[in-house]
Amino acid sequence: MRPCTIEPVTSLEERASLFDAVLSPSFGPEELPPRDRFLAWTSGDDLEVLLATDAETGETLGCAVVALGQGTDVMALLAWLAVRPGERGSGTGGALLDAAIDAARAGGAHLLLAEVEDPRKHAASADHGNPWRRLGFYARHGLVILDVPYFQPAIAPGQERVRDMLLLAAVLRDGADSPTVLRPALVTFLEAYVPRLDGTDPEHDALLAAAAEVTAEPLADALERAGH
Ligand SMILES: CC(C)(COP(=O)(O)OP(=O)(O)OC[C@H]1O[C@@H](n2cnc3c(N)ncnc32)[C@H](O)[C@@H]1OP(=O)(O)O)[C@@H](O)C(=O)NCCC(=O)NCCS
Repeated sequence: MRPCTIEPVTSLEERASLFDAVLSPSFGPEELPPRDRFLAWTSGDDLEVLLATDAETGETLGCAVVALGQGTDVMALLAWLAVRPGERGSGTGGALLDAAIDAARAGGAHLLLAEVEDPRKHAASADHGNPWRRLGFYARHGLVILDVPYFQPAIAPGQERVRDMLLLAAVLRDGADSPTVLRPALVTFLEAYVPRLDGTDPEHDALLAAAAEVTAEPLADALERAGH
């Protein structure tokens, strides 16, 4: 474990710096908006930006961005989580995920959603990571997997949807993953989140229909069943 300090950041300079140093090298072009759009979004009250720095040197290690109040107070979204390439595997990502969960819970959310690549459909890359190992990371942190045909909406004009994604959730309150709580909350979230970024169409309708019937399973169990 590498000792790190995690703090919310608000200044334009810090947000621009973590976009360049952490997010830009860690995500593909469809998974990140243009820099100016990221800076505009993260200046609002509904996004919390958490920066991890080395506890001794102050060097930037990673960041997490949590979106609150996405259509419903019950749902928060882990918009981005990344540790700089070369700094991974020392516990920083785990500490950032814990801090993101704390921030979502403090904001009143019952579930924190995370959009991840389906490792059966997305290849590994040195900078963007290995989708199977990423799932192992989330499984060890106790997340559940939601059985919906998920796609990440296009996050800026001119960008594409990212298909073949999985939707995970950290359960922040007892019972929040039960069908009676989860289904209406997920439908409300998707009705607000996808059209706001990306409009509606039959693919979105199919996602909403699946959300109305969704069930949650511990990700660790699903991975074991898949032999991982
Ligand atoms: C996922 C990520 C945030 C984890 O951060 P980290 O500091 O390496 O995490 P920790 O040290 O707390 O935990 C180590 C675990 O992280 C995961 N991990 C580490 N390096 C990874 C990589 N290159 N790709 C995928 N997962 C990785 C593994 O599960 C690892 O455990 P393992 O060594 O037993 O396989 C980091 O790998 C990363 O930034 N990846 C690229 C961006 C990304 O995938 N973000 C998540 C988007 S949903």
